[in-house]
Amino acid sequence: MGLWAGVMRTSRMAVAVLAFGVLVHAEAEAQPAARQVAVWDVPDVDLLPDDDLGRLVRYGRSVLRETSAHIGPAVADPAMRFAGNNMACGDCHLNSGLKKFGLPLVVASADYPAYSTRRGDEATLVDRLNSCMTRSMNGRPMPADARPMQALVAYLGLLAKHIPADARIAGGGAGAMPELDRSADPQRGAGVFASQCAECHRRDGLGVRRNAADASFGYAVPPLWGDDSFNDGAGLGRLITMANFVHNNMPNGTDWQMPQLRPEDAWDVGAFVLSQPRPHRAGTGKDFPDLLNKPVDTAYGPYADDFPEAQHKYGPFAPIRAAAEKLKAEKGSVPNPDR
Ligand code: HEC
Ligand code: HEC
Repeated sequence: MGLWAGVMRTSRMAVAVLAFGVLVHAEAEAQPAARQVAVWDVPDVDLLPDDDLGRLVRYGRSVLRETSAHIGPAVADPAMRFAGNNMACGDCHLNSGLKKFGLPLVVASADYPAYSTRRGDEATLVDRLNSCMTRSMNGRPMPADARPMQALVAYLGLLAKHIPADARIAGGGAGAMPELDRSADPQRGAGVFASQCAECHRRDGLGVRRNAADASFGYAVPPLWGDDSFNDGAGLGRLITMANFVHNNMPNGTDWQMPQLRPEDAWDVGAFVLSQPRPHRAGTGKDFPDLLNKPVDTAYGPYADDFPEAQHKYGPFAPIRAAAEKLKAEKGSVPNPDR
């Protein structure tokens, strides 16, 4: 392929590099679909004009940050009670969805529709938002034409506006630190929790409400377990996601460039948090029609392999991954018997 064609398909960043006289590297041609965008070019919501779109996007950001005040279980209008807990989307999607390895949402709107291995069919952005509504927020689906849903979609659309549709952002998800070669240890994690987390999340893990009398004010520090937390079908209920999130973001204010916890402590405290009680989601056994697509750290069965549930929950994960590879090569797929 010619040099110019390569340039056309590289990101803004690579073009800027070229301007300084550095040659386009061969990698851009070898992997055209996986362009890494390290600097996120995201419009400033506060600079939008006070017109219909500006107001909708600002409302969307507020739904993300002050979720419980708009669609929480304690709002005045029962028809608006979509979330089942008083958490905020922004408790997990940090810095309004803009933080590297803080489960950012800057490319979400470009990522969908996409095939969902959990559903076994194509998911739209609204479907994906409702997956967090029904799992992370332990609530019920919000219709596509509900104003808070339209506002969330508008906000996410604005974030992705300047990011190339086929880009992979550097800093997406929660991170991928090395795994332990032992099971994560909830008991050891209890000690880490007491010294590193309890000051904010409280010893009972239930967090700190902004207003003791009115739950719709949400949390100054969100709960990590208990009735008002995410349910057992949520993404953060998987240890790999939880441990990386904690490593890169907690104690709150930490970022990926200067983690405070040793990886081992993050794995163990994550295991401790996930060993505590939380709401149960009915029907999770039906998730993942092909069990070979089920993430190794899914804490609920059925599984394609014979490893015990405890190992799926706490690791070590490498043997499970190896078994899945082997089964994939032998059988191609393993249909979920619960469907
Ligand atoms: C308890 C933590 C938590 C809460 C609360 C939460 N989410 Fe999520 N969300 C996650 C996790 C974990 C993922 C999966 C990230 C991954 O797959 O790497 C995710 C994924 C998403 C995605 C898909 C992102 C992408 O690019 O694929 C969207 C969109 C999203 N959440 C929106 C929301 C909205 C809107 C709310 C509030 C109504 C919300 N989430 C509440 C944890 C949470
Ligand atoms: C300085 C106070 C503080 C400390 C210490 C702290 N957190 Fe947090 N944590 C927060 C706040 C505040 C949020 C919500 C983030 C936001 O609003 O920006 C949060 C969010 C979270 C979340 C996602 C939301 C939820 O409730 O599930 C998890 C998980 C979490 N913290 C775990 C931990 C763990 C584990 C530790 C100890 C290693 C810890 N935190 C230490 C303040 C703290």
